[in-house]
Amino acid sequence: TDRYCVFGHPVSHSKSPVIHAAFAEQTGEALEYTAIEAPRDGFAGAWRAFVESGGRGANVTVPFKEDAYRLCDTLTPRAERAGAVNTLILEADGRTRGDTTDGAGLVGDLERCGVTLAGARLLVLGAGGAVRGVLEPLLAAGPASLHIANRTAAKASALAADFRDLGEVSGGGFDAVEGPFDVVINGTSASLGGELPPLPDDLFAPGATAYDMMYGAEPTVFLRWASERGAETLDGLGMLVGQAAESFMLWRGVRPDVTAVLESLRRTL
Ligand code: ATR
Repeated sequence: TDRYCVFGHPVSHSKSPVIHAAFAEQTGEALEYTAIEAPRDGFAGAWRAFVESGGRGANVTVPFKEDAYRLCDTLTPRAERAGAVNTLILEADGRTRGDTTDGAGLVGDLERCGVTLAGARLLVLGAGGAVRGVLEPLLAAGPASLHIANRTAAKASALAADFRDLGEVSGGGFDAVEGPFDVVINGTSASLGGELPPLPDDLFAPGATAYDMMYGAEPTVFLRWASERGAETLDGLGMLVGQAAESFMLWRGVRPDVTAVLESLRRTL
C-alpha cells in the first residue's frame, strides 16, 4: 500500500487523515494516510525516514511549510512564489517535488460555491504566509483588482509589489481600505483570538461574499460581522477539503468529490 502522511507539530488535531481516508474510499485508491509529528528542528530527516519506509507523498502544515520549501529538489511555480510547500511528491527518480495547493483549494471552493472571481473587486485581509500562499491562484482567476489590507501596512505594500506582475494588486493599512468589494477574504489570524480587524461599514457591494480562511463549529467574528452587513458568508472548511483534494489529485491523478466529504466533516465540528 502506498503511504502518505501529514507532517505537523502539533499534528494530532489535523483533519487530513480523515479527509484522505474518505477520498481513498470514494475513489477506490488503495493508500494509507497517517499524521506524523516531526521534531521542530528535524523536518528534513522526518521526510527522509518516511520515504525510506515507503512514503510516496505528504502534506505539510504548521510549522513546517518553509522547511518543506527548502528541502525540495524541484518546485512548482506557484510554490516558488508562495515561498512555502504544503504538498511533497516523491518522484519516480527519487527526487522530491514541492507544490502548494492552498490557493487552488480556496479558488476551487469559491467556484464550487458559485462565487465569481473574474472581474470582481477583491479585498484580502492579512499579509502573512497564509495570504502569500493564495495570491497567485486568486490573481489567475482574473479579478478586476485585488487589494491587500493589513494591520502592518508596510507588509501589505511589500506583498503587493511581489505579485504586481500578475495583475492589478495594491496594498496598505486597514485605515486606507476603500470599498465596495465583491469578495472579501479574511486571511489574518485575528479570528483565532476572536478579534475583528478595524474595517469600514460600507465594505461590501450588493451581493458580496465574505470568506474566512478559518473555520469552526460557530461562525467567526469576521463572518458574523459580514453577515450583519448583508454579505453572503463562507468559512474555510471548504478550502481545507479543497486543498486536500488538490494534493490527492497530484499524488493519484484522480480528482475526489469535495462536497460529500465536506458535508460529513461539517457534522463533526
Ligand atoms: P499566517 O501563516 O497565518 O499567515 P503570519 O504569517 O504570522 O501567519 O500572519 C498573520 C497575519 O494575521 C498577519 O497579516 C497579521 O498582521 P501583522 O502583519 O500586522 O502582524 C495578522 N493578524 C494577526 N493578529 C491580528 C489581529 N488581532 N488583528 C489584525 N490582524 C492580525
